[in-house]
Amino acid sequence: MVEVSVSILSVQQENAIRTFYNLEEAKVNYFHIDVMDGKFVEQDTSSIMREYTEYLKQITNVPLDVHLMVEDVEAYIQSYSAMEPNSITFHLESAKNREDVLKWIHLIRDFGIKVGISIKPNTKVEEIIPYLPYINVCLVMSVEPGYGGQTFQEEAISKIEELKEYRDREQLDFLIEVDGGIDEETVSLVKKAGCDIVVAGTYILQAKDKKEAVAILKKE
Ligand code: DX5
Ligand code: ZN
Repeated sequence: MVEVSVSILSVQQENAIRTFYNLEEAKVNYFHIDVMDGKFVEQDTSSIMREYTEYLKQITNVPLDVHLMVEDVEAYIQSYSAMEPNSITFHLESAKNREDVLKWIHLIRDFGIKVGISIKPNTKVEEIIPYLPYINVCLVMSVEPGYGGQTFQEEAISKIEELKEYRDREQLDFLIEVDGGIDEETVSLVKKAGCDIVVAGTYILQAKDKKEAVAILKKE
């Protein structure tokens, strides 16, 4: 059964408290925190995501799945480590070189937090292969990072299949997570391809019955 990580990017501030409560009631497995710095991507969500994360830390035990879409990865790892998230995921494309990637992996691991690396739609799986033995989650973007509500890009499916094949062949144990445009249709495509965790924002947040929407995504 896949796990569901709900993106809180589009949660409206005026009813955030109620929404977080409903999402926990809906049995999401993680809160997906979309941290954007206005440089790596156009939007800057850093302060609102910080506010939401501080609030979530106080009111729920649902684990936090932090997705950094930022240039200064090290600074955001430092600041989000204090929130004791379940995982911190950075973008491979944020790194200037291999040393950056290894440094960030070790920094997150030294905090005892699970390490994720995300790849954009145009980044090939072969570019992340060297790091797969050292990470806990590979986040495959099925949309260009930067906004919620975009259309699922089918090219993500073959990347999930490729990662699963490689993982099974090399007997590695990283999880495959997919992020962007996930709804009741696209979720069956990515499940079949072998993903372990799906991120969904719009599909869940717009659902009248959030519990049912989460159950539909989890359904075997
Ligand atoms: C996009 C974010 C995604 C997005 C998912 O940059 O990383 O997590 O918010 O939202 P939906 O499910 O609406 O595509
Ligand atoms: Zn995300």
